[in-house]
Amino acid sequence: MDRIFSGVQPSGNLHLGNYLGAIRNFVRLQEQYECIYCVVDMHAITVWQDPKELRHNIRELTAAFIAAGLDPTKNVIMNQSQNSHHAELAWIFNCVARLGWLNRMTQFKEKAGKNRENASVGLYAYPNLMAADILAYKATHVPVGEDQKQHLELCRDIAQKFNNDFGVDLFPIVEPLILGPATRVMSLRDGSSKMSKSDPSDNSRINLTDDADAIAQKLRRARTDPEPLPSEPDGLDGRPEAANLVGIFAALADSSVEEVLREHGGSLFSDFKNALTEIAVAKLGPIGAEMQRLVADPAYIDGVLADGAVRARALSEPVMAEVFETVGFVRT
Ligand code: AMP
Ligand code: TRP
Repeated sequence: MDRIFSGVQPSGNLHLGNYLGAIRNFVRLQEQYECIYCVVDMHAITVWQDPKELRHNIRELTAAFIAAGLDPTKNVIMNQSQNSHHAELAWIFNCVARLGWLNRMTQFKEKAGKNRENASVGLYAYPNLMAADILAYKATHVPVGEDQKQHLELCRDIAQKFNNDFGVDLFPIVEPLILGPATRVMSLRDGSSKMSKSDPSDNSRINLTDDADAIAQKLRRARTDPEPLPSEPDGLDGRPEAANLVGIFAALADSSVEEVLREHGGSLFSDFKNALTEIAVAKLGPIGAEMQRLVADPAYIDGVLADGAVRARALSEPVMAEVFETVGFVRT
């Protein structure tokens, strides 16, 4: 049976992009596949995290998974650092992946910025750990937002090189699942940059914990252009802010860009933003409220993660035994 794996970093400020690009699709996939959803705390520390905040953010993200509709009895919900197989396989992949491959990763270049010499080694090797997350379970399908496409190509290259080097057919070649009309949600302040947890302006994103007033205010202030909405998708060409809001609407309404424009073409942004606020509050409000309720019960959250860790290790154990045997390690 096909197996799904995906991860989200517990680095705070979980936003609408994370929801529409990733978490919402996780919920849909749980009906069809065996799924492992991971709070990737080891990825989070590739940039500085305050330990107290990290602990809170791990629990909050776990709560968000459950509040969005993931069933912890049906899926494995876990945090990465509680299954050491991820780190063990990542080391082996550090020895498979080539420097030249990692040098091409655009996310490293963006995150490291100008001062590359000062970036952590972990940030550089981050895609190898991501490949290990997936392949420790021989997962075949990985739901993510558009920005993770390059990392998944690297995961395929690593699987292929490992299989070739050792003359085995051990790792699957994974398929990305980039689903829905909002696979790359843009900043509300700048249609040319991605909505991101690390944007210093809180007005650039809608957080899953924002209340109705905050959502309304951020959408009211969202950047647009002076033209009314077009009636056809090609009328959005060269209008990134308009395209972004229409894509968000379509995703929240379970509709398509064509359909949204059929209904709202010709509207002024002031009216469209009211309609968008209404649907955003209706869809996100209950998730935020449920997150708050769950976070207030850390014992329950920790129980979910403890159970997830046990079930995850049971799944990765046989894969790791095969890997160690293939590589030539002696296990006594
Ligand atoms: P991260 O916050 O980097 O851990 O991302 C978690 C998941 O959310 C990944 O699948 C990302 O591709 C997805 N994601 C992050 N930002 C966005 C965005 N602005 N639009 C769509 N998907 C996103
Ligand atoms: N790198 C991903 C991100 O920042 C998170 C992640 C880590 C992930 N491991 C993964 C996503 C494995 C999918 C599969 O969004």
